[in-house]
Amino acid sequence: MKINIAIDGPSAAGKSTIAKKLAKELQYAYLDTGAMYRCVAYQALTSHLPLDNEEELLHMIPTLQMQFDIHNHVFLNGEDVTDAIRDNEVSMAASAISTHQKVREFLVHKQQCMAKDKGFVMDGRDIGTVVLKDAELKLYLIASVEERSNRRIKEYLSKGIQADYKSIYEDIIKRDFQDMNREVSPLRKADDAIEIDTSYMNVDEVVTYILELISKRKG
Ligand code: DC
Repeated sequence: MKINIAIDGPSAAGKSTIAKKLAKELQYAYLDTGAMYRCVAYQALTSHLPLDNEEELLHMIPTLQMQFDIHNHVFLNGEDVTDAIRDNEVSMAASAISTHQKVREFLVHKQQCMAKDKGFVMDGRDIGTVVLKDAELKLYLIASVEERSNRRIKEYLSKGIQADYKSIYEDIIKRDFQDMNREVSPLRKADDAIEIDTSYMNVDEVVTYILELISKRKG
């Protein structure tokens, strides 16, 4: 029987890498909910919409067509925005627009509809606490700010994007603060989530550990 797996944690803690690999191993669907907030932010920036104007954002969001293919490519109104939405400016803007309650309600509803038949690995900030409160397995991934900054730098360099350690480090701290201290659905570990510190673990070690957790639960 298929289950739903919720993965939360701060930015660059390894959520999406782990979630993708886990979904592949289990032959489950994967949804990167952060990409949805990023698409909204990307469109807002492109259309010069003020990020603090919830009314205007709410007007725009229903016009957005977001699609995710099996290769984890993200399409916004038909345009491949997979790389464009990873830009640092979009990251900060996504964190800013995610503070709006009605923006969240709209996206959360979409996410819940997608996962209603189970067999989903979903990652984000509020998956275990709000979106999939009844997920059979909830994980909360963390890693030190230093390790997360190094991972971001590697990711940017591999894509040929210029990156400077100090600004990445400071942005991670700023985004953590924003995500953990917002009024609506702040990032926090669900009471029934299992915390995994990935600072000293590689991707395969984390995935193997999670697969063991799943088989123990099923057993
Ligand atoms: O996971 P990510 O870094 O791609 O997410 C980008 C931003 O979107 C993040 O700073 C906070 C917001 N977000 C959120 O509030 N809730 C989610 N479920 C996913 C992301």
